[in-house]
Amino acid sequence: MNSRTSRFSDKVALVTGGNSGIGLATALAFAREGAAVVIAARREEEGREAVSRIADEGGEAIFVATDVADSRACKNLVGRTLERFGRLDFAFNNAGVSGRAIPAADFSEAVWDRTLAVNLSGVFLSMKHQIPAMLKSGGGVIVNNASVAGLNGARVPGCAYVASKHGVVGLTKAAAVEYADQGIRINVVCPAVIKTPMAEAAFADPVFRKKVYGQHAIGRVGEPEEVASVVTFLCSDDASFLTGISVPIDGGFLLFQN
Ligand SMILES: NC(=O)c1ccc[n+]([C@@H]2O[C@H](COP(=O)([O-])OP(=O)(O)OC[C@H]3O[C@@H](n4cnc5c(N)ncnc54)[C@H](OP(=O)(O)O)[C@@H]3O)[C@@H](O)[C@H]2O)c1
Repeated sequence: MNSRTSRFSDKVALVTGGNSGIGLATALAFAREGAAVVIAARREEEGREAVSRIADEGGEAIFVATDVADSRACKNLVGRTLERFGRLDFAFNNAGVSGRAIPAADFSEAVWDRTLAVNLSGVFLSMKHQIPAMLKSGGGVIVNNASVAGLNGARVPGCAYVASKHGVVGLTKAAAVEYADQGIRINVVCPAVIKTPMAEAAFADPVFRKKVYGQHAIGRVGEPEEVASVVTFLCSDDASFLTGISVPIDGGFLLFQN
């Protein structure tokens, strides 16, 4: 049984990549705190299932099929949000694709372009259309999802992913400064390995999986809900003086040196 609170009643939260993994856990967390939720992603069936889960728990949500690499789709997403709920208070720009562990000189240009288009331009395009809507609502909070690979280099998940996530950290800092005095706070979370379909696929090889999973000092990988709780904290008034920060959610991954 999940408890519900009213911390975010009358608030509207948008979650990209909200039909799976970290995004789904965060969409559910926003709804449990009373927010109306807009879920965006490409797969419609999974999107409808996420909406049903929220409705089953007594919350309110809609799904808007969206490819975040497409500016018109991101504009439509915000338009549909305002049409249905009249305002936008919170956005979790979480949609992303995994990397390929191929050295830079051998890396496919097409894969590079698509990874950057989704993971970095997708966050830029999302914010570009969200910010004017938030300004009209009197302010808001954006949380972007990067990775520990946005703070450090790594052979896996490869150069395009690492570059895209470093870009998300830099974009967050720049936009945070630009909008801090207009009532919009913008922060970025940097998870290590979190148990989701993406991580299951990336760490399918048992030997490699054991090695990477063993690098979390806390002795286990993270749960999607452990990212969701940080995102909702950052959106809450408890985080009212936090903007432009990068928050590792990593069980000590960045401290652990073997
Ligand atoms: N799991 C980890 O260990 C980990 C660690 C650090 C950071 N992250 C980041 O966390 C975010 C969520 O990943 P996850 O682990 O929760 O994996 P996931 O379960 O595979 O979720 C990825 C989400 O992104 C959506 N998505 C992918 N491409 C999209 C596009 N072009 N337009 C709109 N939505 C798109 C997917 O939905 P559709 O396929 O339906 O579009 C899905 O909802 C990603 O940005 C990832 O890089 C994950």
